[in-house]
Amino acid sequence: MTDQQSDHRAPEQHRTDARLAVVILAAGQGTRMKSATPKLLHELAGVPIISHVLATARELDAAHVLTVVRHERDRIVEVVSAELPDSIVVDQDDVPGTGRAVELAVAALPQDFDGEVLVVNGDVPLLNAATLANLVEAHRESAAAATILSTVLDDAAGYGRVIRTEDGRLDRIVEHKDASDDERRVSEINAGVYLFGVAALRDKLAGISTDNAQGEKYLTDMIGLLRAAGSEVGALSVKPSWLVEGINDRAQLSEAAARLNALIVRGWQLAGVTVQDPATTWIDLKAKLAEDVTVLPGTQIRGATVIERGATIGPDTTLVDCEVGAGAIVKRADATLAVVGAGASVGPFAYLRPGTNLGADGKIGTFVETKNATIGAGSKVPHLSYVGDATVGEGSNIGAATIFANYDGVNKHSTTVGSHVRTGSHNVFVAPVRIGDGAYTGGGTVVRKDVPAGALAINVAPQRNLQGWVAENRPGTDAAKAAEESGE
Ligand code: UD1
Ligand code: MG
Repeated sequence: MTDQQSDHRAPEQHRTDARLAVVILAAGQGTRMKSATPKLLHELAGVPIISHVLATARELDAAHVLTVVRHERDRIVEVVSAELPDSIVVDQDDVPGTGRAVELAVAALPQDFDGEVLVVNGDVPLLNAATLANLVEAHRESAAAATILSTVLDDAAGYGRVIRTEDGRLDRIVEHKDASDDERRVSEINAGVYLFGVAALRDKLAGISTDNAQGEKYLTDMIGLLRAAGSEVGALSVKPSWLVEGINDRAQLSEAAARLNALIVRGWQLAGVTVQDPATTWIDLKAKLAEDVTVLPGTQIRGATVIERGATIGPDTTLVDCEVGAGAIVKRADATLAVVGAGASVGPFAYLRPGTNLGADGKIGTFVETKNATIGAGSKVPHLSYVGDATVGEGSNIGAATIFANYDGVNKHSTTVGSHVRTGSHNVFVAPVRIGDGAYTGGGTVVRKDVPAGALAINVAPQRNLQGWVAENRPGTDAAKAAEESGE
């Protein structure tokens, strides 16, 4: 999370924290997603789950960042290298469990590192740096060997439960699958975010067994082990709980995505964007909107879309990685990798495919599809047309129902239309072809040859009217009667 999310994160710290190492756990498969895509690569707000966590970790400026991978490791490493190039990648072996993951990460730390290790599950995308900074601070102010984040949930199913002693102190964590009925009734859960003194980890991790319901080395066993050895352990309770909710299945993914979207939409509203219906408006994390943009219901602003001041987007519009200029209107449109100039108008019912570049004050109108097409300033394609592999100059008007026929069955070719051209309705431009500046074409023209500047191109056969054809060939029909009664 960046930009709009910074309001619920700590301010950027610019001094590296030499005593801090961060370990991000990203080796699991995420079986509950039931997906060919690794869980941590599923997206919310247009960014993989793991990237949210990596971005938060980056804000802490820790001296060491380690990411533990195994399942689909190359796909995960690609994202890690892009987001946090300084992170050390640690490969987990075939011993399963979060405890093993951390054991291998600690082994990859420099021998002389004697600070604290912050462990973060990779599936907690709404976690913010402020919460992590609080954890680091609380831990350092205490004498504890470990401090964990916990929260209280109405439905704690699936989570590790925080078990406290009678006097309320943290005692141990029991995983859902290993918990008794009484323990399952506990609503305080382990958030999967921990701070350990590195000595405690070096001392105890190897001793964790796989003797549990899942046959895994649980990191959570560290708490009971430290307590048994007489060490202090602490839990810091987080509110609101959504900050630390993990994503294990697709229901949790959509809940977290909706939560994040609500934050993003609110952020833009406070930044001067009118969003009429936040519930049906989806804005990705990387999108940027200027003041006085209006977003109407049913709109998705995805990827790195940029919308300039005063533009109106929607209703029912999807923009992916687009640029929309100031004051433009984009209504009921679907656009990807398209540029819409200032003051231009798009839709309703327009489909802008990659490479569309509409100039200032231009128009791509109703039931128009465009692809790899530069349409100059003030030029208009108002109705029912396909414009592919084309360059149109300035101030030109493309007649209704025109097809830029760019495909000869094997190769694609391009069409060039000059400036201040007027083409008739229902034209076909058979590419490659060029229509010069100021030229006209007649209605129904199939343009197969270049049209010189200033010429009128017509190639339809002269019209013949066969007098009395209806009376002769369709006697007794309504048409024949109407013709007779007209007296013509
Ligand atoms: C874990 C905690 C649970 C806690 C919950 C919070 C354990 C044993 N349990 O359960 O107490 O309430 O998170 O969300 O830690 N991973 C590895 N290597 C592995 C297994 C997992 O790196 O061998 C990674 C996963 O990719 C994931 C994270 O660790 O990012 C947590 O794994 P997950 O399977 O989601 O654990 P939970 O069952 O959610
Ligand atoms: Mg989990």
